[in-house]
Amino acid sequence: RQACTQAETLTSGMNLTRTLGNLPPNVCQPSYLAEQAQKMAQDNSQLVVEVLAEEQLKELGANALLAVAQGSDQPARMIVLNYQGGNADEQPYVLVGKGVTFDSGGISIKPGASMDEMKYDMCGAATVMGVFDSLLKLKLPINVIGVLTCAENMPSGGATRPGDIITTMSGQTVEILNTDAEGRLVLCDALTYVKRFEPKSVINIATLTGACLVALGSQTSGLMGNNQELVDSLLSAGQSAGDAAWQLPLFDDYQEQLDSPFADMANIGGPKAGTITAGCFLSRFTKDYPWAHLDIA
Ligand code: BES
Ligand code: MG
Ligand code: ZN
Repeated sequence: RQACTQAETLTSGMNLTRTLGNLPPNVCQPSYLAEQAQKMAQDNSQLVVEVLAEEQLKELGANALLAVAQGSDQPARMIVLNYQGGNADEQPYVLVGKGVTFDSGGISIKPGASMDEMKYDMCGAATVMGVFDSLLKLKLPINVIGVLTCAENMPSGGATRPGDIITTMSGQTVEILNTDAEGRLVLCDALTYVKRFEPKSVINIATLTGACLVALGSQTSGLMGNNQELVDSLLSAGQSAGDAAWQLPLFDDYQEQLDSPFADMANIGGPKAGTITAGCFLSRFTKDYPWAHLDIA
């Protein structure tokens, strides 16, 4: 009976993730994900949810997240879930999910074939929601912060252009050379934002690069990080759960692929090692805590 209860608890979270992923992109928009998170908090006293709207995101300087959303009629949202199962003074584990509710590519528009699949570009955020569903049911004695960093990537007269330069929340500037490399932009501000929680560790989950599908197929997630202990724990968790990840190197030598003559970095690193250069980009925002990045494309 205990085994059944535990299986039910885990599959409930997985099912929520899948259901959110499968919703059409005209329904599952940033505001919808915010509502779902708020509903979850209404039903659970251990969960507090805060939704940051565009005005607050502007005050925070979340210009990378806002830049991705600026071509869309749907405003960006940063959704912060705070589960306190441990003592108030215990450092939290932080999970950050990419929540691009539709990724058309923006002005660097994607080809039409299979573009519908880009409704799944919020599956990192959906994964965090699923984890919280299970977490609340298991009542684990730990503190966990979840951040869903949500935007819709669309082309319009207000959209970002290749060549635009923005200042991220971290103060570092980015030259947007390809508007389709938007995942790292929505993530970088969230990764800066979570510093305030003094995390024990930060794991981000994102459908980040097509290159990851080329390298590892649909079976295995790409994994990178700045802390081998954290990476190893994810590798072994993936093995025991039957949902494996494989570590890719974040060697410093790859970093120069992000060099820009006009800004601190470009948002793309050229055709080679696209999954790793995306990881390199994120690594520039995660120096203050143990961090791992799961590319679940
Ligand atoms: N959401 C895509 C990554 C993706 C592609 C996930 C296919 C699942 C299936 C991401 O936003 C993207 O477009 N990445 C670009 C990056 C490139 C412009 C550096 C890509 O992979 O082509
Ligand atoms: Mg894209
Ligand atoms: Zn994307």
